Amino acid sequence: MSGLLIEGCRKLRGEVTVQGAKNSTLPILAATILTEDENVIHNCPFLSDIDVAVRILRYLGCSATRHGHTLLVNTEGMNDFRVPDSLMREMRSSIIFLGAILARCHKAQLTFPGGCELGPRPIDLHLDALRKLGAQIEEHHGEIVCCAPEGLTGTSIALAFPSVGATENIMIAATLAKGTTTITNAAREPEIVDLADYLNKCGASIEGAGEGTVVIEGVKKLSGASHNVIPDRIVAATLMSAAAVTGSDIVLNDVIPAHLRGVIPVFEEAGCKVQVKEGRMTFSSPARLRPLKLIRTTPYPGFPTDAQAPLMALSTKARGITVFVETIFENRYKHIGEFLRMGANIKTDGRVAVVEGVPKLYGAKVSAQDLRGSAALVVAGLSAEGTTEIDTTKYLERGYEDLDVVLSTLEGSVKKI
Ligand code: EPZ
Repeated sequence: MSGLLIEGCRKLRGEVTVQGAKNSTLPILAATILTEDENVIHNCPFLSDIDVAVRILRYLGCSATRHGHTLLVNTEGMNDFRVPDSLMREMRSSIIFLGAILARCHKAQLTFPGGCELGPRPIDLHLDALRKLGAQIEEHHGEIVCCAPEGLTGTSIALAFPSVGATENIMIAATLAKGTTTITNAAREPEIVDLADYLNKCGASIEGAGEGTVVIEGVKKLSGASHNVIPDRIVAATLMSAAAVTGSDIVLNDVIPAHLRGVIPVFEEAGCKVQVKEGRMTFSSPARLRPLKLIRTTPYPGFPTDAQAPLMALSTKARGITVFVETIFENRYKHIGEFLRMGANIKTDGRVAVVEGVPKLYGAKVSAQDLRGSAALVVAGLSAEGTTEIDTTKYLERGYEDLDVVLSTLEGSVKKI
C-alpha cells in the first residue's frame, strides 16, 4: 500500500478535468441489474469502490468490462441473488444492490454492511421502505434475507430522514414494482437525479427526482441504455480547496455549478472568485483567506458533509474563526487530530468543531482515517511549510482517481511513495 509525499507552500496553476461522480456511478451500476440488455456507462472513474461494485456484478453472474472510463455491463447471465459478506464488508454502500436484486430476482441475500470510519451506518430506512413495498425481510446473525414471491407493490413511503442510499434503493426497487410508489422527504442530491435519468432512459417512469417528492410508476420491463455519469461535485470542491489554501488560480473543466451551490458561496465568503461558463470553472484565490464563519453540513442543496473535511483543511489557515457543525454523520472529525499535528488550532465538542486560523501549518507525518479525511490531509499538506507524509492512499483511492497525478498536473508536488 503506498503513501503520499507532499511538498507544501507551492502555488498551483493550470487546468484539469473533474472525474465522474463515484456516488452516481455506484447506484447506476446496481440499477443495471434491472435490465437484461447491454448498458454502456461513460465517465466512470478508476476507483476502488467502483472495482468492488464491478466485482459484485460479476459475482452475481453479470458481465462487466471496462474500456477506459466506459463500463459495459450486461446482466443477462445473472445467476445469483446473494452478495457475500466479504464483498459487503469491502464497501458499505453495497447495500445499494439490495433493491435491484430484489426487484429482479424477487429475493435477495446480503449481510449487514457494518459500520465504517464515519459511524454505524444503519440501514433501517432501507429495510423499512422495502418492507412497505411488500418484501419479507429477516435479519439474523448479520444476514439480511429478503423475498417477495409476488414481486413488489408500489406504495407511499415517507422517509424519516432524506437518506441518499434509501432514496436510491426505493427508486430502483419501485421501478419494477406493480403500481405507483411515492417517496416523500426524498434525498435531493444530484446523484439521485442522475440515477433517475439513467433509469428513465431504460424505460422507467420516474418523476420529481431532485425534489422532495419522487413518484415512480412501476413498469414491466426495462431495456439497456447508454449514459454519461455526471461530474463529481465533491472532487471539484476538493480541488477548489487545494487552490484556495495555496492562494492559487486554476481552471476546472466539467463542472456543473448548480451541483456546487452549497459550496461556491463559502469560497466566495473566504475571498475566492468563482466563474463558470459552459462547464468550465475559473477559480482564483486571495493571498490569505477570510474566515468561513459557520459551516453546517445538511442534506442537498445545503453544504455537503463530504466537503466538510477538505473545507476544514482550508479554514485552518483562514484569518479568524470558522465553526463547523457536522449534522449528518456521528464521527466525521478524525482528520482533526492529524491537522493538530500540523500546527492547526481546532477544538471540538461533539458535532461542533471550532477552527482558529493560524498563519502557518507545518508538514508532518499524518495518518489517513477515511476517504474525505485523506483528501483533507492532502489539501493541508499542500499549504503546509515543508514535507507532509500521508501513511496510506487506500482510503483516497476509494473516491479520487489519481489525485497525485491531478495535483502534479497543477504543478503541486504530490508523489506516491
Ligand atoms: C451517501 O451515503 C454517500 N455515499 C456518502 O458519501 C454521503 O456522505 C452521504 O450519502 C450523505 O450525503 C454514496 O452515495 C455511495 P445517507 P449514504 O443514507 O447513502 C443515517 C463519500 O464520502 N441513516 O444519506 O449512506 C446515516 O447514519 C460517502 O463519498 C439512517 O439512520 O448516506 C447518516 O447519519 C461517505 N438509517 C445519515 O442518515 C438509514 O437507513 C445520512 O446517511 C440510512 C441512513
